[in-house]
Amino acid sequence: MSDRIANAALRSKVMTAEEAVQFVNNGDKVGISGFTGAGYPKAMPEAIAERAKAEHAKGNDYAIELFTGASTADNCDGVMAEADAISFRTPYQSDPVMRNKINAGKIRYADIHLSHLGQMVEEGFFGQMNVAIVEATRITEDGNIVPSSSVGNNVEFLRAAERIIIEVNSWQSEDLEGMHDIWTVPALPNRVAIPINNAGDRIGKTYIEIDTDKVVAVIETDAPDRNAPFKPVDEVSQKIAGNFLDFLEGEVAAGRLSYDGYVMQSGVGNVPNAVMAGLLDSKFENIQAYTEVIQDGMVDLIDAGKMTVASATSFSLSPEYAEKMNAEAKKYRESIILRPQSISNHPEVIRRTGLIATNGLIEADIYGNVNSTNVAGTRMMNGIGGSGDFTRNGYISSFITPSIAKDGAISAIVPFASHIDHTEHDVMVVISEYGYADLRGLAPRARVEKMISIAHPDYRPALQEYYDRATSGDKAFLQTPHDLATAFDFHRNLVEKGSMKG
Ligand code: COA
Repeated sequence: MSDRIANAALRSKVMTAEEAVQFVNNGDKVGISGFTGAGYPKAMPEAIAERAKAEHAKGNDYAIELFTGASTADNCDGVMAEADAISFRTPYQSDPVMRNKINAGKIRYADIHLSHLGQMVEEGFFGQMNVAIVEATRITEDGNIVPSSSVGNNVEFLRAAERIIIEVNSWQSEDLEGMHDIWTVPALPNRVAIPINNAGDRIGKTYIEIDTDKVVAVIETDAPDRNAPFKPVDEVSQKIAGNFLDFLEGEVAAGRLSYDGYVMQSGVGNVPNAVMAGLLDSKFENIQAYTEVIQDGMVDLIDAGKMTVASATSFSLSPEYAEKMNAEAKKYRESIILRPQSISNHPEVIRRTGLIATNGLIEADIYGNVNSTNVAGTRMMNGIGGSGDFTRNGYISSFITPSIAKDGAISAIVPFASHIDHTEHDVMVVISEYGYADLRGLAPRARVEKMISIAHPDYRPALQEYYDRATSGDKAFLQTPHDLATAFDFHRNLVEKGSMKG
């Protein structure tokens, strides 16, 4: 292991997580590595949880404010939430224990665009960052950090924090070195254009430079990333994927896209993975991804010669594909680039690449407003993640969703979205297993018929009745007709009777 810590001064700082936890104090703002279950610290979260339990048993307060790239894992977010070791969390999570504590009001959660957080931390929007805990594949001779399976907000956390703890994980392939592209946006007022013109452009270094004087501990670990398997592609996902491909084909027919010009952004999940499986058999070639996470489907597209390059900030792979990535990182680093999330999700580059954004949703309303985060307008699911970065700035923004959730108790198409993350101004195309609603260029009332056509047949009559009611009498000529008295009946039914059907 010690040859992974090539810097002598930092080698002298090696200790256990139980010893290093002395540097993480009650109330500290702690920025950690980690994104969609990849590259998060494997030892310190458990040590923080244990310290919290011990302090609480003595009647002492102990909780940290936790900043990450995005979601982590049960042995990171999960254990710390379970131990009541977290008082504040940002910018994205998906752990069930964490989610429940957020919704129980025990953890304050700030749901923030992923491209924004690094800048907000560096500019001091949250006050002084105290500790950065970052997983590394290797520490170089000069004391620089070669990141592991994600980059996330590591650069900003390492620069902003007073103290640094590095976890060197020997489970991560040393061949990941060379896959990362670390370039940082200069601070205000010295901003310059980001010199990325194409998804595959490399513009920075393969490591993160740090102030080694700030390093208080180095910990050796040998533990896998979370890596959850994807569900097998079911019939509904397959139909959604088919409708998405029909939409792409329509763009080609209209001359707005070519078979070798598709730049992809894809949200993470089972349906997006099914879309990628669909692309394997499509006419699209030389696909490029300028996206947030690399998932199994993209690796398949690369293997099949369909995708030339994938630029992201993190992996989100099944255990089988994570093993494959570790074994063949040398090969994959030719076509995969991992960047800081401030660059992978940067509006400037997203707009320049002309990508087509494709993300999941919780609900969309009849005018095309999208809720990605809050069930029934109140209960946090995961967070907005990068969906806002890509939806607002993509060439085309699309959302893919099954028409119903929870065995039909929930309709994904509702009269009025109970929380709005993406407004009608940003949402261009919504796709379900029943087809796609192309909302581009349409005034609100012209969108309604299209949105109802992709709803589940069980919910179409109630949606039509709502719209008829909203446009009756003197409301017929409003810009965005609503019947405010009944706009949330679907949600009220869900909360009171367990189904939107009532
Ligand atoms: N109300 C309640 N629950 C809902 C729901 C709704 N309207 N729509 C979906 N769900 C539930 C599903 O039932 C499922 O629950 P389960 O895990 O208990 O089975 C879960 O949400 C996931 O839904 P699924 O249909 O499998 O889609 P998904 O994996 O694509 O997730 C989101 C959908 C909206 C939760 C997810 O896309 C998300 O968190 N988006 C916000 C962040 C984002 O877009 N990131 C990508 C940017 S790069």
